[in-house]
Amino acid sequence: MEPPAGPASTRHVPWNRLVLAVSLLTFWTPPTTAQLTIETVPPRAAEGSDVLLLAHNVTKNPLGYAWFRGETVDHSQLITSYRVDINVTTNGPTHSGREALYPNGTLLIQSVTQKDTGSYMLLVTKNDLQTERQTGHLHVYPVLPRPIITSNNSNPWEHEDTVVLTCGPETQNTSYMWWISNQSLPKSTRLELSEDKRTLTVFNVTRKDTGPYVCEARNPVGISRSDPFTLDVLYPVARPPLQASNTTVPEHEGPVVLSRLTDETGVSIRWLFKGQSLLLADRMTLSSDNSTLTIDPISREDAGGYQCEVSNRGNSRKSGPLRLRVTWQENARALDVGAITGIVIGVLLVLMPLAVLGCFIFLHSSCLTRY
Ligand SMILES: *[C@@H]1O[C@H](CO)[C@@H](O)[C@H](O)[C@H]1NC(C)=O
Ligand SMILES: *[C@@H]1O[C@H](CO)[C@@H](O)[C@H](O)[C@H]1NC(C)=O
Ligand SMILES: *[C@@H]1O[C@H](CO)[C@@H](O)[C@H](O)[C@H]1NC(C)=O
Ligand SMILES: *[C@@H]1O[C@H](CO)[C@@H](O)[C@H](O)[C@H]1NC(C)=O
Repeated sequence: MEPPAGPASTRHVPWNRLVLAVSLLTFWTPPTTAQLTIETVPPRAAEGSDVLLLAHNVTKNPLGYAWFRGETVDHSQLITSYRVDINVTTNGPTHSGREALYPNGTLLIQSVTQKDTGSYMLLVTKNDLQTERQTGHLHVYPVLPRPIITSNNSNPWEHEDTVVLTCGPETQNTSYMWWISNQSLPKSTRLELSEDKRTLTVFNVTRKDTGPYVCEARNPVGISRSDPFTLDVLYPVARPPLQASNTTVPEHEGPVVLSRLTDETGVSIRWLFKGQSLLLADRMTLSSDNSTLTIDPISREDAGGYQCEVSNRGNSRKSGPLRLRVTWQENARALDVGAITGIVIGVLLVLMPLAVLGCFIFLHSSCLTRY
C-alpha cells in the first residue's frame, strides 16, 4: 500500500476554519440517506501491522475529508485533512508520520502501536458545504512473546512439595492454556489452575509429574507456545540389587555380565570396584544406560567386590558388594610328593654318615683335649 503523495500546503484557506464553520452548519443538517460508515481492517490489529480505516458510502463529489483522534471535532486532535478541489493534504498535530489519507477518504495507519488504540473520526464535507461524520475504532494488541514456564521450586521432593508453575510474561488480554505430555490437563485433585489460567499448581508432586509441560498464550491477534518444561522431581533412590551371570570364573573365559536389577529411571549409575570408581579396562563394556557391565575375557585382576551406585539429584545408594572369584592354574608345575620324598631320603642318607662321623671326630678330639 502506497500512501498518496501530496505535500501539505499552507497557501490556501486554512482547513481548520473551514471545518469549524462547516461543523457549526452540521447541527441543522437532516439525516442523509446512505449512511457513511467506517470499517477498520483488520478490526483487531497486531502491533507493527498496517491498518486501514475504510470510509464506506462516502457522498458523491465531496469537498474534503478530515480525520481526528477521538470522537469530536477538536483541531488539536486533527490527524490529517484533504481538499479534493486542489488535491492538497494538510497534516494536523496528531499526525505521527505513519498516517496517510487516500482520495476516497480512507485512512491508512502504518506500523500501528498499542498507543494507536482508540477512536478515529472522519468528517466529510459535502459539496453543499454540509458535513457528515462517522467514528471508527481500532484496537492494537501486542505481538505475544514466546511464553516461558517457571517453577517456584526447582528441587521439589516427591510426596512433600507443592509446585507452582507460571506461564510468563504476563500480558494483558491474553488467555492461557496448558498441556502435560502433549495432553490437555487431566482431571486431578492434585492439579489446580488459577482463575486467569496463568499458573498451574501441582500439589504433592510425584515422579510421574515430570511432564513435559507446555503453556500457550493467546490474544486476538496471535498464539504463542512455550518450550516444553520438565519438572525434576527428587525422590529417594532404592538400593540397587546386583546380579552376576556367574561369580566364579576361570581366567581368560567370559563373558561375565553384572547387572543392576531395578529399573528406576531418571537416575545415573556408577560402578565401583574394591570400593573405588571402576576404571574401565578394554575387556569391559557398559551398556548405554550404564546398568550392565560386561567383562570378556576375565582376567585375574578382575577378582574382587563390585558395587553399583545409583543416584539422582537428590541422593545416592550403593548396592552391597558382589564378589567375583577368578580361578587359574599355577604355571610352575608342582613337584609331586614322590619326588619330594626321594629328595628328603637322599639328603638324609648323605647327611647321616657325615653327622655320625662329625660327632665321632668331635668326641674324639674332646677326649684328646680332656686327657
Ligand atoms: C451504505 O448505505 C446503505 C444505505 O444506508 C446501506 O444499506 C449499506 O449497508 C451501506 N454500506 C456500507 C458498506 O456500510
Ligand atoms: C480507498 O483507496 C484505497 C487505496 O487505493 C483502497 O485500498 C481502499 O479500499 C479504498 N476504499 C474503499 C472504501 O474502497
Ligand atoms: C511454591 O508455592 C506453593 C504454593 O503457594 C508453596 O506451598 C510452596 O512452598 C512454594 N515453594 C517454594 C520453594 O517457595
Ligand atoms: C483488554 O480488553 C478490554 C476489553 O476488550 C479492553 O477494554 C482493554 O483496553 C484491553 N487492554 C489492552 C491492553 O489491550
